[in-house]
Amino acid sequence: MCAGVVPEEQLARQRSWLGDSWIWLLRTRVLAGRKEGLPRPTALDVGCGPGLVMELLSPFIDVEGIDIDHRMVSESTARGLRARVARAEELPFEDGAFDIVYCSFLLLWTADPVKVVKEMARVSRDWVICLAEPDHFGRISYPPEITAVDRLFIDSLRRQGADPQMGRKLQGTYARCGLRPDMGVHASMWNDRSVREGSDAEWNSLVPADEGGAEDALRNDWDAAAANGSLVQFNPVFYAMARKGR
Ligand SMILES: C[S@@+](CC[C@H](N)C(=O)[O-])C[C@H]1O[C@@H](n2cnc3c(N)ncnc32)[C@H](O)[C@@H]1O
Repeated sequence: MCAGVVPEEQLARQRSWLGDSWIWLLRTRVLAGRKEGLPRPTALDVGCGPGLVMELLSPFIDVEGIDIDHRMVSESTARGLRARVARAEELPFEDGAFDIVYCSFLLLWTADPVKVVKEMARVSRDWVICLAEPDHFGRISYPPEITAVDRLFIDSLRRQGADPQMGRKLQGTYARCGLRPDMGVHASMWNDRSVREGSDAEWNSLVPADEGGAEDALRNDWDAAAANGSLVQFNPVFYAMARKGR
């Protein structure tokens, strides 16, 4: 399996948390400044996965995607989206080929994020956007009995080759590419019902299956917290938006 191939169910959960925020950023920051009557801007989704983000944003932009993993490309095309196999470090497009080049949950999985953002900037004629890069060292888990989950998750990400601190490195990554981004952290909203209903999926996404029975006590504490309404899992997800030459 290629680095960063995350189960589609998890990508769908991420889209459900962040999708409104992505659309808001696109509408208020990117599209609002465009002259009326122009066709939809062209866009490239780098590391598009199964196409969930492209599907969400395609009413607003004329988007196509690339991914290093051919199965992800097939899933995108099965959704009726345009996608092809390519590496983010070597995009098969001419300089300035797209109005917008964006990625989400990609850089943490790459060995050289500066190289990727430089390449994104090369094929963009205007916007270079990272819609989402998490920072797992900024996690808040509550109640205290369940904070061991944070370490299990961070260790598991590192074993898979990901950088759990990519979020906080995003601004410096842009700076090293000569880009001056507007930075932000996505806001969240939840209630006790959504926490209870999502708690199994959240546990499964955080605690690797191969951790075995040693985590049984932790799981009991987790379930108790979900049931009594005290479970909090907060993970800052950063974004960066820059325009070339500004
Ligand atoms: C966590 S998934 C995110 C998918 C999608 N962007 C989303 O937010 O739903 C990361 C994707 O990046 C792809 N990927 C990882 N390294 C890559 C690289 N060097 N070049 C292109 N794609 C890459 C993986 O195959 C995977 O589909």
